Amino acid sequence: MSKAWIRTAEAYEAACALAADNPKAFWAEIAAGFTWQENWEHVLEWDFQHHDVSWFRGGKLNITENCIDRHLADKGDTTAIIWEGNDPREQPEHISYKELHSRVGRYANVLKRQGVGKGDRVCLYMPMIPDLAIAVLACARIGAIHSVVFAGFSARSLADRINDAGAVAVLCSDGMYRGDKELAVKAVVDEALEECPGVNTVLVSKRTQWPVEMQVGRDHWYYEEALHVGDDCPAEPMESEDPLFILYTSGSTGKPKGVVHSCGGYMVYTGYTFRNVFQYESGDVFFCTADIGWITGHSYLLYGALLNGATTLMFEGVPTWPGPGRLWQIVDKYRVTHLYTAPTAIRALMTFGEDPVLSHNLHSLKVLGTVGEPINEEAWQWYHTHIGKGRCPIVDTWWQTETGGIMISGMAGVTDQKPAHAGLPLPGILPVLLSPDGQELTEPEAEGLLAIRFPWPSMIRTTFGDHQRCVDTYFKPFPGYYFTGDGARRDAKGMYRIIGRVDDVINVSGHRLGTAEIENAINHHPQVAESAVVGYPHDIKGQGIYAYVILKDGDAGDENLRGTILETVTEHIGKIARPDKVQFVPGLPKTRSGKIMRRILRKIAEGETEQLGDTSTLLDPGITALLIQGKIE
Ligand code: WT7
Repeated sequence: MSKAWIRTAEAYEAACALAADNPKAFWAEIAAGFTWQENWEHVLEWDFQHHDVSWFRGGKLNITENCIDRHLADKGDTTAIIWEGNDPREQPEHISYKELHSRVGRYANVLKRQGVGKGDRVCLYMPMIPDLAIAVLACARIGAIHSVVFAGFSARSLADRINDAGAVAVLCSDGMYRGDKELAVKAVVDEALEECPGVNTVLVSKRTQWPVEMQVGRDHWYYEEALHVGDDCPAEPMESEDPLFILYTSGSTGKPKGVVHSCGGYMVYTGYTFRNVFQYESGDVFFCTADIGWITGHSYLLYGALLNGATTLMFEGVPTWPGPGRLWQIVDKYRVTHLYTAPTAIRALMTFGEDPVLSHNLHSLKVLGTVGEPINEEAWQWYHTHIGKGRCPIVDTWWQTETGGIMISGMAGVTDQKPAHAGLPLPGILPVLLSPDGQELTEPEAEGLLAIRFPWPSMIRTTFGDHQRCVDTYFKPFPGYYFTGDGARRDAKGMYRIIGRVDDVINVSGHRLGTAEIENAINHHPQVAESAVVGYPHDIKGQGIYAYVILKDGDAGDENLRGTILETVTEHIGKIARPDKVQFVPGLPKTRSGKIMRRILRKIAEGETEQLGDTSTLLDPGITALLIQGKIE
């Protein structure tokens, strides 16, 4: 991929010009830097109206050959994955490319022996242990479609995702450690599987050595199965447009969507952007703190890094355990050169001051990255000064589960950076700002709805099992564009600052949640009549979750009830979706047609009660005063 490596501002300009001028030639040249089993016939075909897009059609490849096999000759003994356990006293692992090759091959052969094959969906529900990375790659090796579910989701969420994808196998562990917590994993899977008749294989990796229930015929210990197979597994030839994985994400309506990514385009784009955004060089150590259960973990901890023959660090624990210096200790211990984390982690660590930072040597750091939510200027400055010591460029990377890879971001040390701005689009990415009625805002300086007017290789292909939903969500709102759901501002130099979601999606600690999904969970509580959820600014999490709840029979509610409502949400979605504030209310501000005026609820939750705007269309204008009175501080 050396030709596609941009190292100067001039080269960036040239790449943008070529990509805008002749996108097919541009991407064909980048794709040619990868290993294909057969060449493609068409670089790109597209139609945004029905969202029918294909990249490198006719080409055949296997992404794991590009992630592993192609590095064996000159990097076989180089560390591919460093694994750091939850407990700093635990022995870490250094998995070389050679070892990764055999461990992935063995896991792939176990899957095959269980009858799992190309096109089958496989659900992974595992903590951040090496087997998670290995199992993901093993699926890709045999052409099975992986669907990783973050191990913080509840049994019910897991069951919904397994059933939506029609998964035939679940890969999990016995239990897990996360900070000072020990959590059951297999037991959650067992509970979920009561609702999932389609699953006929469960493979269990050992992590905590806890006794677990094993259903005869269905459940197997991975280490026992691994004894029956060899470690050489040929890479399945995949069509470029064959699905590589499904990853569920929340939207503004209904249940989470299974975002589908394809093999060829995803490989080309994540490989290209990893190298260029982070300016990774041989010998560097890349540390992405995201869990593989999220897109950041898929695209940059795993695929993008391995595609470039990088050394990637996988951390099982949390940044604040056993102390607030844990991340800095890891940076010091492994001479980390690239740190990629979320603003929420930076804000949380800032509250501990500089002492935990100063007791570690951070000289190895070269590049810092952030992702997942807008970074406020204060957090940016702290990261820059105290972690980067004023000498490491910061890349603020804007992208989404649906985009597959980074879309708007600086390239470390190559393009300009501006605090709290994602910056310029990457070559080949054509963002626009739209007015609410869909007009492109053509002046350089503008603020509007962020959309993309041309396809890129790793864009979402469909929402699993429901293509119309994909079209309706992303392509219907503004015909001819992919709509992101974000609002953004552009400065005179063309740099973008992401403002945040303009739909009913909230971003809590860099995790995306639909307000409808949380309301739906709350409404399962037997005493709840109705609820409305909005986001509000939160110092650490970026946004907090504020729930207005109407109880049945005019009940006024108490602390106990509040607690059971939080439990209901935990059971239906997971802890990450628990409201920070629950206000019991006698009614909600509704229009005469029965529509909840969320704008008013947001203003009240934000404490901006002076500017409620026009409330004259409310069915019961008196309700707002009652809500303001009872606001939870
Ligand atoms: C939403 C996508 C893609 C990685 C993790 C999140 C917000 C993401 C930034 C950023 C401001 C950001 C947007 C986007 N977002 N990165 N650098 N600056 N906002 O993926 O869960 O699919 O969420 O996260 O609102 O739409 P996701």
